[in-house]
Amino acid sequence: MEAGVYYLLLLALTGISSTLSFYGDSITFQPAHKQKDGTYKVTFHHRQNGRSSCQNKPLHTCESEVCTSFVESSVLQTDQDDTGQGRWCQSEMHATATVRKNQTSFSLNHSSCCWRSNVDGKTNWTSEAELDLGSRSDSHALNSCPLTTTVSSLRVPQNCFSPIHILAHDPDGDHVRCRFSSDAAAPANFTLDESKCVLSTKGEVDVGVHVFELMLEDFSRKNITLTYADGTSVFREGSDMNSPPLCKVKLQFSMEILPPLSNCEHGRVQPMFLSKTPSHGDVLHATMGQKFKLYAQAKATEASINDFQVSGPQNMTKEFKAGEQGTAELILSWTPQHSDLYRIVPVCFTAETNQSQSDMRCVVVLVTQAALIQGTATVTCSPNKMTVALDRSSMPGIDVNFLQLIDSSCSLTSNGTHILGVMSFSTCGTKLLDKGDFLVFANEILSYELSSEVIIRRKAVKIDFSCQFSKNRQHLQLLQPPEV
Ligand SMILES: *[C@@H]1O[C@H](CO)[C@@H](O)[C@H](O)[C@H]1NC(C)=O
Ligand SMILES: *[C@@H]1O[C@H](CO)[C@@H](O)[C@H](O)[C@H]1NC(C)=O
Ligand SMILES: *[C@@H]1O[C@H](CO)[C@@H](O)[C@H](O)[C@H]1NC(C)=O
Ligand SMILES: *[C@@H]1O[C@H](CO)[C@@H](O)[C@H](O)[C@H]1NC(C)=O
Ligand SMILES: *[C@@H]1O[C@H](CO)[C@@H](O)[C@H](O)[C@H]1NC(C)=O
Ligand SMILES: *[C@@H]1O[C@H](CO)[C@@H](O)[C@H](O)[C@H]1NC(C)=O
Ligand SMILES: *[C@@H]1O[C@H](CO)[C@@H](O)[C@H](O)[C@H]1NC(C)=O
Ligand SMILES: *[C@@H]1O[C@H](CO)[C@@H](O)[C@H](O)[C@H]1NC(C)=O
Repeated sequence: MEAGVYYLLLLALTGISSTLSFYGDSITFQPAHKQKDGTYKVTFHHRQNGRSSCQNKPLHTCESEVCTSFVESSVLQTDQDDTGQGRWCQSEMHATATVRKNQTSFSLNHSSCCWRSNVDGKTNWTSEAELDLGSRSDSHALNSCPLTTTVSSLRVPQNCFSPIHILAHDPDGDHVRCRFSSDAAAPANFTLDESKCVLSTKGEVDVGVHVFELMLEDFSRKNITLTYADGTSVFREGSDMNSPPLCKVKLQFSMEILPPLSNCEHGRVQPMFLSKTPSHGDVLHATMGQKFKLYAQAKATEASINDFQVSGPQNMTKEFKAGEQGTAELILSWTPQHSDLYRIVPVCFTAETNQSQSDMRCVVVLVTQAALIQGTATVTCSPNKMTVALDRSSMPGIDVNFLQLIDSSCSLTSNGTHILGVMSFSTCGTKLLDKGDFLVFANEILSYELSSEVIIRRKAVKIDFSCQFSKNRQHLQLLQPPEV
């Protein structure tokens, strides 16, 4: 009896503390699907930012008219400031809703007072997401929501602001619009490129903490219809931004504008990522039950990198290694479980010094069942083109007819022993990436799926290949065996 009383008291206390200071959050839907009995299974992950302790439980509910069940996990801290200064932490929890078959959308709405104290004087915040439950005519599946997140604490020296690329990945390839949320004014002198999701400044921004509430919404690029359980359907014209979005998710974060630095050159006082680091927006692959690793490396020759901030899934571990000449390395490890299958997980990271922070890089990690096909590829870089040759004998079962380059209109050819692709640095979807110390031209060979295939059964292939130029040495260098 007494134990029960204490337990309730403790819960009440945690409930109160969770409303005292809010530092931002993000909601990520796992691809939702319709079950045999006609109900919808909707799972989402919720990350919440804090400073020295991140165990607060967000308060989600689903009314019984909407859901037949609603199961929430416990909250686990996923990142913390390992230098012990309590400058950031983040937690993640997830919940699964079984939504009644008579519903046409699923929404989350949770608001409270008390943003952390900020120069914009904002107090109330609302965490919001809404997913349309119509079946899409193009994919014959439910819509996938845009994916986004940020690290817990963005820290930018006042005179060194460079545009911040916010993650806005859409698994269906839809157009994603990012806008300042209409229920919260944007901090003065900040602007947002709505189609690229890039946050910039258009004048001086005040030193101190600013808070942001962005809404990400997806719109099909093609004309589609959405069909609901009762047989009704609605038409959505391609890229019509005046129609209701297929999904909307709110992203909230705080940014601390720090005192000016003596020098804004990247890699000196402000950390800069080196070429080992994935590029912003990269799609990485993880296999269920196998350890996934992400390596990043940063450099600051006139400051000391003492930690990395990470926004990632529960049980992802972070290893920090200080290197030579102001470099530091981050190794993230994560073993996806069965419940993570087909999850697409946003991961963001920054390198930290006491006075500043690197740019924020974000990737998405797609969890699949079987390992991707591994193979031997040879890349030949010449001054104006790159050639890739895959050894067919190293990839048994590969189906040439389902392979493509980033731009699917460029075809691959094959002879008896190899699959061949030839492209210039400006064709076939080849991307130019500035990796700090290198300029990289990258493309990939992918297996594509017919859009009617909802469940991907064919073995997936993803072979990255690239040619890179050292900025210092000014000559071509071949990247060694493709990462698969
Ligand atoms: C859906 O069904 C539930 C339970 O039968 C009911 O309470 C609710 O009003 C229905 N909602 C709609 C929109 O029909
Ligand atoms: C959520 O709450 C906010 C503020 O109370 C309101 O403006 C908004 O329309 C609500 N959204 C949904 C989906 O109910
Ligand atoms: C914040 O929310 C509280 C409670 O809902 C409300 O009374 C108050 O007016 C809101 N403040 C602002 C600035 O909107
Ligand atoms: C916005 O920038 C302009 C030009 O730099 C500056 O004069 C103004 O004070 C800034 N506004 C705020 C609110 O900081
Ligand atoms: C999309 O729908 C609009 C409006 O109905 C129509 O004018 C347009 O031709 C359609 N586009 C395609 C590619 O079908
Ligand atoms: C994380 O690890 C703990 C302890 O090993 C385990 O109980 C929990 O289920 C894991 N959570 C996830 C989401 O994998
Ligand atoms: C960073 O700040 C912490 C706490 O103030 C201090 O202990 C540490 O020495 C500082 N590191 C550097 C490199 O200045
Ligand atoms: C196929 O092309 C590759 C790369 O050019 C070459 O090495 C190989 O000998 C060719 N095989 C045949 C059977 O022509």
